[in-house]
Amino acid sequence: MNKVSVAIIGGGMITKQVIMPVLVQEKRKGKISSISVATRRKKTIDELMQIFPEANIKGYPEKKEEDPDAWKELLENQEKPSIVIIATPDDLHSEMTLTAIEHQFHVIVQKPLCLTVKDAKTILQASREKAVYVFTDYHKRHDMSLMAARYKYKRGEMGEVLCCHAWHEQKREIPLKYFRNWCERSSPLEYLGTHYIDMFQFITGLVPKKVIATGQKKLLVSLGINAYDACQAFIRWSNGSVQYLQTSWILPDGNPCLSNQGFQMTCTQGEFRADNANRNSNFSTTKSGYELFNPYFFKPYIDWNNPEIDLYLGYGASSIVQAIDDCIEIIEATSSLDEKQALEKRKQMISAFEKTRPLPNQAIIATSVIEAGKMSMVKNGKPVILDENFEPHYE
Ligand SMILES: NC(=O)c1ccc[n+]([C@@H]2O[C@H](COP(=O)([O-])OP(=O)(O)OC[C@H]3O[C@@H](n4cnc5c(N)ncnc54)[C@H](O)[C@@H]3O)[C@@H](O)[C@H]2O)c1
Repeated sequence: MNKVSVAIIGGGMITKQVIMPVLVQEKRKGKISSISVATRRKKTIDELMQIFPEANIKGYPEKKEEDPDAWKELLENQEKPSIVIIATPDDLHSEMTLTAIEHQFHVIVQKPLCLTVKDAKTILQASREKAVYVFTDYHKRHDMSLMAARYKYKRGEMGEVLCCHAWHEQKREIPLKYFRNWCERSSPLEYLGTHYIDMFQFITGLVPKKVIATGQKKLLVSLGINAYDACQAFIRWSNGSVQYLQTSWILPDGNPCLSNQGFQMTCTQGEFRADNANRNSNFSTTKSGYELFNPYFFKPYIDWNNPEIDLYLGYGASSIVQAIDDCIEIIEATSSLDEKQALEKRKQMISAFEKTRPLPNQAIIATSVIEAGKMSMVKNGKPVILDENFEPHYE
C-alpha cells in the first residue's frame, strides 16, 4: 500500500477532538507517512505536539508566535502527493481549498464546503481541471441510523417523501467559547443546518427549489455577540416535498450532550423517525454527571489487540477514513504513470467518485440552501428561489 502525507490547516476543536486521533490511528496502520499542521498561532502547534506525540507533527508557523499566512508556507513545502485537510472557520474554506487544488493536492474540507454557490462552482471547476479529489466531510452519511433510512428509501420501501423535520441544536459554549472569534460570520443554519440538508438530498436524490428562513437574535446579542441564537428554514424540494429545519446554538451548559438532534421523514408508504442524540446508552458519573452518550459518533474504545490503546470508532472517523482510502486508491492507480496518463486516470476515477461521494458536485447543494437561507433570513423570511444551476434569487 502507498503511504500518503497529510497536512491539516487549523488546530481548533475538530482537529483536536476528531481529526488528529483519526490520523494517528491511520498512521499506526501504515497508511500515513507524515502529518503537518498549520495554524495561526505557534502555541496551538505546541499544544497539539504535546497531546499527540506519536504524530511527530511538523508545525507552521515554525518560529513566529503568530502568522495568519503560515498555511501558505505549509502548502509551498508540502510534498506530493498529499492530502490537505481544511479545518478552519467556514468562511475561510474557499480560499484555502482553491489554493490547495492549485498546488494539486487532494483535499478533505470540513462541512460546509463553502458559503456561496459562486465559490462552490469555482471549486468544482478547479478540482475537475486539476483532477484532484475534494471531499466535504459530511460524516452523517456514515451514521448507520441515517444509512438505514437511505437504504429503505432507495429500495422503494418508503414510497415518496412528503415532508421532513430535522433539528440540530448545540450548547451555548459553541458561540461563547469555541467559535467566539467567528460565530458572527456564521449562523446555526450554516454551521449546523448544512448536515441535515445534505442528509435529505443524500437520502432522496432531490434538489432544492425554494428556501424561506428566519432567525432570532436575543441571548447572544445581550452578551455582546451579534450572532443568531436560532434559525429555522423551510426548504421546498424538487418533488414538492418540504423540509423544516430547526437549528440553534444556545442550549444551556447543563444540557446532557453537546448536540440535541434528530431526523423525521413522512413518506407515502412509511415514516422514519430518529433521535440522534438519545441512543439509549447513557451514563451518570461523578466525573461528568448525566450524559446522553452517542456511541456512534466518535468515541474511544479498548483496542482489540493492545488494551492499553484507545481505539476511536464511529461515523466521525469512518467519513475521514473513506476519503483517505479513496485518495490512496487514486495515488496507487497513478504512481507508475507519466504525467499525462496520470491526469487522465485521475479524471476517470474522480468522475466515478462524484456519483457516490460528497465531492463538490454534491456538496454544492447544501451550500446553495445555506446561501439562500442566509439571504432569506436577513430579509425576515423573504422567499429565495434556487434555479436549475443552484443560483439563489429573491422571489
Ligand atoms: N465534522 C464535524 O463534526 C465538525 C464539528 C465541528 C466543526 N466542524 C467544522 O470544522 C471547521 C473548524 O471548526 P472547529 O470546531 O475546529 O473551529 P475552531 O474555531 O475551534 O477552530 C478553527 C481553527 O482554525 C484556525 N484558523 C483560523 N484562521 C486561520 C488561518 N488563517 N490559518 C490557519 N488556521 C486558522 C483557528 O486558529 C483555529 O485553530 C469548521 O468549518 C466547522 O464548521 C466540523
